[in-house]
Amino acid sequence: MGSTPRSQSWYAGTDRNAFIHRAWMRRGLPPHAFDGRPHIAIANTASDLTPCNSHLGEVAAGVKAGIWEAGGIPLELPVPSLGETQMRPTAMLFRNLAAMAAEEMIRANPIDGVVLLGGCDKTIPALLMAAASVDLPAIVVPGGPMLTGHFRGTPLGCGTDVWRLSEEVRAGTLSQERFLEAESSMIRSRGHCNTMGTASTMACMAEALGMTLPGVAGIPAPDSRLLEHAHEAGRVVMEMVEHDRRPSTVLSRGSFLNAIVALAAIGGSTNAVVHLLAIAGRAGVTLTLDDFDHTGADVPLLVDLQPAGAHLMEDFHRAGGLGAVLREVSDLLDPSATTVTGRPLTEYLADADLHDESVIRRRTTPLQEAAGIAVLRGDLCPDGAVIKPAAASPSLLHHRGRALVFDSIEDLRARLDDPDLDVDEDSVLVLRGCGPKGYPGMPEVGNMPLPAKLLAKGVRDMVRISDARMSGTAYGTVVLHVAPEAAAGGPLAKVRTGDPIVLDTTRRRLDTDLPPGELDAREPASATAHAAPVRGWERLYIDHVLQADRGADLDFLTGSSGSAVRRESH
Ligand code: FES
Repeated sequence: MGSTPRSQSWYAGTDRNAFIHRAWMRRGLPPHAFDGRPHIAIANTASDLTPCNSHLGEVAAGVKAGIWEAGGIPLELPVPSLGETQMRPTAMLFRNLAAMAAEEMIRANPIDGVVLLGGCDKTIPALLMAAASVDLPAIVVPGGPMLTGHFRGTPLGCGTDVWRLSEEVRAGTLSQERFLEAESSMIRSRGHCNTMGTASTMACMAEALGMTLPGVAGIPAPDSRLLEHAHEAGRVVMEMVEHDRRPSTVLSRGSFLNAIVALAAIGGSTNAVVHLLAIAGRAGVTLTLDDFDHTGADVPLLVDLQPAGAHLMEDFHRAGGLGAVLREVSDLLDPSATTVTGRPLTEYLADADLHDESVIRRRTTPLQEAAGIAVLRGDLCPDGAVIKPAAASPSLLHHRGRALVFDSIEDLRARLDDPDLDVDEDSVLVLRGCGPKGYPGMPEVGNMPLPAKLLAKGVRDMVRISDARMSGTAYGTVVLHVAPEAAAGGPLAKVRTGDPIVLDTTRRRLDTDLPPGELDAREPASATAHAAPVRGWERLYIDHVLQADRGADLDFLTGSSGSAVRRESH
């Protein structure tokens, strides 16, 4: 160990406070536990109400064994967990709360390093935001995706097939009974969603950033190799403490640009844009929305996974995982970006073999030539909006149509299936009031369903625009994250049903085709003003949340604060 461990400022000495700190921890810990060996927290998001993470206790046991083996003291630290499918109004409302709570718990306690156990969508982003803020040695162990479930012989993609099947019911091509039958087949095992949704994407992002052991992202949750990696992560975090290897050592601008390349090559979730911006903000790394377009837009899509493709995470892992993908685009990666092991990410790629080219393509035979997130600007989104061309209908990426505006998701649900709704397949659905402040929490409602009468005609995609996010398991020609949002006074609040809208993805433009000055001169629709919450987290959140183009973090949480605690507790 290069210097005295941080935890020794609690435990060393013979005074009253050191007595107190040691004595209450001596429930099975021997005296030599306090002799200067590192104390490592295992920040665990296991929760019965986060089903995707409910197995993390077993993963924690593997980590503990590795820490013991390397001579450290493992200490499990339950931190807030966010169950994507369970929480209302949206788990995203609480990402910053979970990040803030984890940050404070890590900093306030006598620990020298931390292992971060996450899985379900927001949990890895929240843990990375916390770790970047405290800047103690930290390593992520992703909980892994679930195994593939089948329904009547067909593999089911979690989330993705819920959207697909529910649209089939609305179109009248699938019975309600069959739909409900699928429910018991979808979730086959422990683990998070098995598509390249947000959870899988963020596990890959953590690996591409260098914050996991190389090769771990995508190992299925029930696979014994996950426990092997958990054990190894326990040993590696001890090395990180030894060498004072912190998130600020690992998280460079180069590592974020590597993550953007990876995001495009895997066809990852648009939610990663918001999360990477927020993590970079915590780490003090300059990263903008435009970096996603400049660095990622021309990266080929190499992974044929749902929601846009055919396969599932079990196949991704079998085919070689993220390493096999990154090897194909290694010339686009920053070779100086390092990992938790101290070795550069690119050093690991020589050993990354590709085993199934139907799942992970070679660079010479990509699924799409240019697959990254496209960042749009225009009079509807002066601070930006995103679209994922890989998940869109090519014929709709350049489109002109009349706006059909909904003031809220409730407004949309109330009117969408009205047979008299004035809509056709060229219409552009606009949903507002769903941004960070407006909902609040920026829910995943941007992939709005299509009007029933168009579904019945066989229409399966339309241009949709909103200040919301979209589930990483969804797909379609969907413009998301419009900034500023309507509730923050953005121009989306002024658009009206019937306005001509022009989407030009090649030119990265999203505009109304109104006479010059007309949109500016309008008053925002009164329905877009959000109700002011009177208390609690929601109040703090609405008062301080940044817009999507800045990661939707709280304005006072950006920038690293470090691990120092100024005062003793007694
Ligand atoms: Fe947890 Fe999809 S609901 S990862």
